Amino acid sequence: MTAAFPALRLRRGRSAPWIRSMLAEHRLHPSDFILPLFICDGDRCEEPIAALPGVSRWTVDRIGAQARQAWQAGIPCVALFPNTPAYLRSERAEEALNPDNLICRAVKAVKDACPDIGVLTDVALDPYTAHGHDGLIDERGCVLNDDTTAILVQQALVQAQAGADIVAPSDMMDGRVGAIRAGLEAAGQCDTAIMAYAAKYASAFYGPFRDAVGSGGRLKGDKRGYQMDPANAAEAMREVAMDIAEGADMVMVKPGMPYLDVLAAVRKRFEVPTFAYQVSGEYAMIEHAAAAGAGDRDALILETLLAFKRAGATGILTYHALDAARLIAG
Ligand code: PBG
Repeated sequence: MTAAFPALRLRRGRSAPWIRSMLAEHRLHPSDFILPLFICDGDRCEEPIAALPGVSRWTVDRIGAQARQAWQAGIPCVALFPNTPAYLRSERAEEALNPDNLICRAVKAVKDACPDIGVLTDVALDPYTAHGHDGLIDERGCVLNDDTTAILVQQALVQAQAGADIVAPSDMMDGRVGAIRAGLEAAGQCDTAIMAYAAKYASAFYGPFRDAVGSGGRLKGDKRGYQMDPANAAEAMREVAMDIAEGADMVMVKPGMPYLDVLAAVRKRFEVPTFAYQVSGEYAMIEHAAAAGAGDRDALILETLLAFKRAGATGILTYHALDAARLIAG
């Protein structure tokens, strides 16, 4: 039921900051964000990532300070990604299961420096394989589902035992959420949450991330045999339903902006905590656009992040988390 013009003048609700603020349907808050952080080997080092202007890799001794900074800005959780040294990458990704690997040391360093912040770790083999795929491959280069899943279960366990609060399988193998849940349960890690990269698309927007973790140059072929076809939306519902049925606590849609339709549909249909990942290529696009004068950087950041809230996101993984949290605080 609604009035018609001139009784209805919607501009009345936009006439001043106080009323705009009062009528805002959605709002950003620092607790909406998860900040991804990249780790590199070595000592007392910050390595700027050329493909992600303003983002660096940090050595383990420096990562705690990064997490503390996020926590102080009101960000509840960080997502850690390792750039494994080349000599530790192999056909079968054995380093993923080393309890003293870069990611496990980083989890402990974050927990030591900032005990209250949540720590999320990625479950997938791409930072550890010599060929850059998320799983084990056969002689034709095809990623093997069940053999990979068996390793992912071990990987998730190693991360949980190092102190990760959330393990986030980003590999897109079928059945891995159920297998990881059962593995955690059997090992007594029943408080570790699973955030499933449930609807993850084979996207052209992951390029800068692959540079950041050092897997891009090695990747033979592409990931279309396991990540979703960007043409599909109904299939995303099946992926999400499957992961929830297998025991995912939270689900994710990825990438972010080009997939807001999928995000909105998932949130509406399943009513479970639903996260969006504004991925590396989206971050780079905003940075390059702002640098070229195509828009105001701060406004671009806040408008794109608010779009996720409007579409129904519970939270957003974004490389702009710290900037955004500070902008919101004023
Ligand atoms: C690894 C992984 C990727 C991202 C998160 N985890 C890359 C990929 O699947 O190739 C992408 C994140 C980003 O681009 O910011 N499985």
